[in-house]
Amino acid sequence: MRPKNILIPTLICAFFLCLIGCKPDKPVDREAVKKELEAREFKRVTEGEIMAKGEEIAKSALKVTAQTFQSALMTAIQEEGVPGAIEYCNTNAMEIVKKLEDSLNISIKRVTNKTRNPADSLTGIEKEIWEAYNYDPSQATAQLQEFSDTELIFTQPIMIGSGVCLNCHGGVGAELTNENYEFIKTLYPNDQATGYQLGDLRGMWRLIIPKKTVVNAL
Ligand code: HEC
Repeated sequence: MRPKNILIPTLICAFFLCLIGCKPDKPVDREAVKKELEAREFKRVTEGEIMAKGEEIAKSALKVTAQTFQSALMTAIQEEGVPGAIEYCNTNAMEIVKKLEDSLNISIKRVTNKTRNPADSLTGIEKEIWEAYNYDPSQATAQLQEFSDTELIFTQPIMIGSGVCLNCHGGVGAELTNENYEFIKTLYPNDQATGYQLGDLRGMWRLIIPKKTVVNAL
C-alpha cells in the first residue's frame, strides 16, 4: 500500500516541477521585439485609410499625366501636323510617363483591347476590369482595387472625347487619311486602333501603386 501512497504526490510534484522547469528563460530578443512593435505600428493604418489615400494619389498622378499627354499632343499637332504628332506620340509619350512614374514610384500605363502599340495589351486582372467597362461604357468609372497583397490597381476609362482623336484613331480613308494611316503602319505594323467614333471607349488608364508608397504618404 505504501508505494501507491507515495506515487500520487510524487507525480503531482513532478508535474509542477516540470511546469516550472519547462518555462523558457531565454534572454529578451530585442530585435524581435522591435519588429513586433514596428508591425503593430504598421497595423494601426487601416485598410480603409490605405484605399482612400491610394485613390487620392492615383487621381492626382493621373490628372498630371492626362494633362501632360493632352497638351503634348495638341502642341505637336499644331506645330508639326498629324504625321509629326504621330512620330511624337511614338517616341515621346512614354518618356513623359516614365518621368512621372519615377518621381512618384508608381506604374502608369494605357491599355486596351485594340492596340496600336502592342505593349499596351491587357493582361491579368486588367482583362476583367476592361470587360466590365466594355459591357456598358456609359457606366464605366474610375475604380481602385487590390492588385496583390502589396499593391493596388487604379483604372479609369479613356473615351474618344474629341474629334482630334479621330485624326489617328478614326475610320481609315475618312477622318484618318490613307496617307496618315500608311505612316502609322510603318511605325506600328500590327495596328488595330482605328475605326473609332466620337464617344467610344478607347482604352483605360491603369496605375499600379505599392501599398508601401501609400502608407508612407499617410
Ligand atoms: C497624332 C496622332 C494621334 C492622335 C491625334 C491621338 N492618338 Fe492615340 N495614339 C497614337 C499613337 C501613335 C499611339 C501609340 C503610342 C505609343 O507607341 O505608345 C496611340 C496610342 C493611344 C492609346 C494607347 C493604346 C494603344 O492602342 O496603344 C490610347 C488609349 C489612345 N491613343 C487614345 C487616344 C485618344 C483618346 C485621343 C484623343 C484625345 C488620341 N489617342 C489621339 C496617335 C494618336
